[in-house]
Amino acid sequence: MFDIKSCKRVLLKISGEALMGDLDYGQDHQVIDRICTDIKAIHDNDVQVCLVVGGGNIFRGIAADSIGMERASADYMGMLATVINALALQNALEKMQVPTRILSAIPMTAICEPYIRRKAVRHMEKSRVVIFAAGTGNPFFTTDTAAALRAVEMGCDSLMKATQVDGVYDSDPKKNKDAKRYSKVSYSEVLAKDLKVMDASAISLARENKLPVLVFSINKEKELQNIFAGKGSYTLINEVGDV
Ligand code: GTP
Repeated sequence: MFDIKSCKRVLLKISGEALMGDLDYGQDHQVIDRICTDIKAIHDNDVQVCLVVGGGNIFRGIAADSIGMERASADYMGMLATVINALALQNALEKMQVPTRILSAIPMTAICEPYIRRKAVRHMEKSRVVIFAAGTGNPFFTTDTAAALRAVEMGCDSLMKATQVDGVYDSDPKKNKDAKRYSKVSYSEVLAKDLKVMDASAISLARENKLPVLVFSINKEKELQNIFAGKGSYTLINEVGDV
């Protein structure tokens, strides 16, 4: 039985769009501070936290086609955008006295450390929030896949995916007011029903490694803390699902 309270090491996936707040582009620093306050609260409760951040608030690789750009180049631009977001999160967390280290899948040592798995684990053991930048370092992979990969590599107890809504629905809750939220759903059902919460490679990686995935809303104040207190609302994706 999955119990959030027994999670001692978690990976939090934050999309680039989440950092945008109500803006059309870029970073809303009030929103970043709010998210970091939540991260600090669980970090202060002795949960080891690592982050994977997207870059869609700055550049989306997936938009390559529409602008006549080669997908690989566009994905590299997206990966660079994640580094900008990682630096913003680092700055906000360190203002709150939360020690952090950014590790980038694409080495750029003038800015941050290169990704070394054992180093990342050590940083977390020393209570530093580790921010993984530049996705997997490879084009054609999403930051959701990077999140599943790093969560497995770090031996995380769960992957917490922050989204715009409070879980996984059977249809888009923004378009269909009767959409039903799952409290639990299996990896296989997410894939079979194409529930679009994460891409198939991320879900497959989670399934293969029995990594529980929690999908929750980034827009709700203090939701991470609530979830750890057993009060928040989210969908749990695991092997069992809603049986
Ligand atoms: P331990 O001493 O192992 O506990 O970890 P540490 O990260 O404090 O030690 P280290 O001496 O490796 O790093 C000191 C500072 O330099 C930290 O802020 C690191 O993030 C930073 N740092 C380490 N390696 C690099 C690098 O390759 N590039 C950049 N830009 N900074 C680095």
